[in-house]
Amino acid sequence: MTFDKRKVVYQIYPKSYKDTTGNGIGDLRGIIEKLPYLEELGVDVIWLNPFYPSPQRDNGYDISDYTAINPLFGSMADFEELVQAAKEHGIELMLDMVLNHCSTEHEWFQKALAGDKYYQDFFILRDQPTNWVSKFGGNAWAPFGDTGKYYLHLFDISQADLNWRNPHVRKELFKVVNFWRSKGVKGFRFDVINLIGKDEELKDNDAFDGKPEYTDRPIAHDYLKELNQATYGQDEDGMTVGEMSFTDIPNCIQYSHPDSHELDMVFNFHHLKVDYENGQKWTLKPFDFEELKHLFHTWGQEMSEENGWSALFWNNHDQPRALNRFVDIEHFRKEGATMLAAAIHLSRGTPYIYMGEEIGMLDPDYDTMSDYVDVESLNAYQELLTSGKTEAEAFAIIQAKSRDNSRIPMQWNGSENAGFSKGTPWLKVGKTYREINVENEKSGPIFTFYQQLIRLRKAMPIIAEGSYQSAYQDHPNVYAFERHLGDERLLVLNNFFAKEVDIDLPESYQSGKILLSNYPEMALSEKITLKPYQTLAIYQEKSGSKDNCQ
Ligand code: GLC
Repeated sequence: MTFDKRKVVYQIYPKSYKDTTGNGIGDLRGIIEKLPYLEELGVDVIWLNPFYPSPQRDNGYDISDYTAINPLFGSMADFEELVQAAKEHGIELMLDMVLNHCSTEHEWFQKALAGDKYYQDFFILRDQPTNWVSKFGGNAWAPFGDTGKYYLHLFDISQADLNWRNPHVRKELFKVVNFWRSKGVKGFRFDVINLIGKDEELKDNDAFDGKPEYTDRPIAHDYLKELNQATYGQDEDGMTVGEMSFTDIPNCIQYSHPDSHELDMVFNFHHLKVDYENGQKWTLKPFDFEELKHLFHTWGQEMSEENGWSALFWNNHDQPRALNRFVDIEHFRKEGATMLAAAIHLSRGTPYIYMGEEIGMLDPDYDTMSDYVDVESLNAYQELLTSGKTEAEAFAIIQAKSRDNSRIPMQWNGSENAGFSKGTPWLKVGKTYREINVENEKSGPIFTFYQQLIRLRKAMPIIAEGSYQSAYQDHPNVYAFERHLGDERLLVLNNFFAKEVDIDLPESYQSGKILLSNYPEMALSEKITLKPYQTLAIYQEKSGSKDNCQ
């Protein structure tokens, strides 16, 4: 199986994209309606967050039936129409497979609770809990009915971890993937897939809340090879990506190396923790540029040298908007949005755009705690209060960090509810929708810059295939890298700050051609000045020179 490195993925959170029924919840028909918009943007694949039957405790990541459509989002006929219509627009679908856990309302768990031994072995049951901490707070074990046993839930109490050591479980889960393949789906995003191989002996571990006991265990690689062989490995084309929680480079190389036959590519999150105080999410800290640069360089370089492949992204449904985190949005929203885009779209890996990013959407800036609905945020707020924070302090943290930030309705126009729904949206719209919306932005600098980036990746093999080389590693304000392909060279300079900075350009690039910038044309010379949040990509067709960008 091979995947096409020229492709760009667009992520849609179906619940918030476009509501066609007026129930306040986005739906599959809403996505069909917006396919021409997506074609205009130029994306090749759309990744849809879960739309399966689910009690929605974790917005669909708590699945109670893997092979059906939640009526809130439409019907199977709508889905089939979506696959067909997308194809007509040159777009493929990527579905979210949540195979590490299922909802406690799933019939497997219900049968297990009712005493069925066969299904009890689908879950991870123990007489005594370990000290592992759930990723949504509290202990990761909960009483299993009145049996005196405990079941493992690495996430919410309603998300029971599945026992991958049981071959019957693996068989059932492979059937799920094959069901969607039979509907014509060739793209899959595997949720927290590096957590499926819990250690055989489940022990207490004080380090990192117990994570080493169940993260990136060698057996996870074995299961992925098995999954690949039994399902998508049989497809000629397609695309698979694994979400890797708390991972490292050697494991990610292994997950994504073509010879491993596991996955095409991996998401890691280290670069989105550079504004965490002591690695803790629920804190406030300006981002650490040195750390960000170092992470991009080490991951970029090592994945390139060892032939791993990364999914490149700034935003998704679990992250506050990158613009709010990394950019002076009051003065430089457009420059910042385009610079951030170039910093990943011109890099080595597959770029992912999260809905709204292409128009520079921002966090909603809610005024009160009652606007937030996400289970993780609500738990975190309580924990912050318990730990001694005042209500105002705790609220400020939720405002900056909540996953609801990115889940707000897509801003289509300046009419009520941002043109998302005629009913009451399940989550309140953001404050900026009257100015920042598709209608206003589609011919503006951000959207057109994204179109350009997508086109360039398709037109230039150096962008899709070139190796990654870090550049100007010691520059205090600029994140820069080179791409190499044969004799071709591409230098990408990204000023991450709201002030001008100087760069000494090596001779070979002084005669290069400016491929792209988010500021008007400039002349190349020995010394150049980058404007606030400027990105500048310089292409050299035949470098011939060994000049290094220090
Ligand atoms: C992933 C999803 C997140 C979800 C969690 C549990 O991290 O992206 O939204 O809550 O897995 O399924």
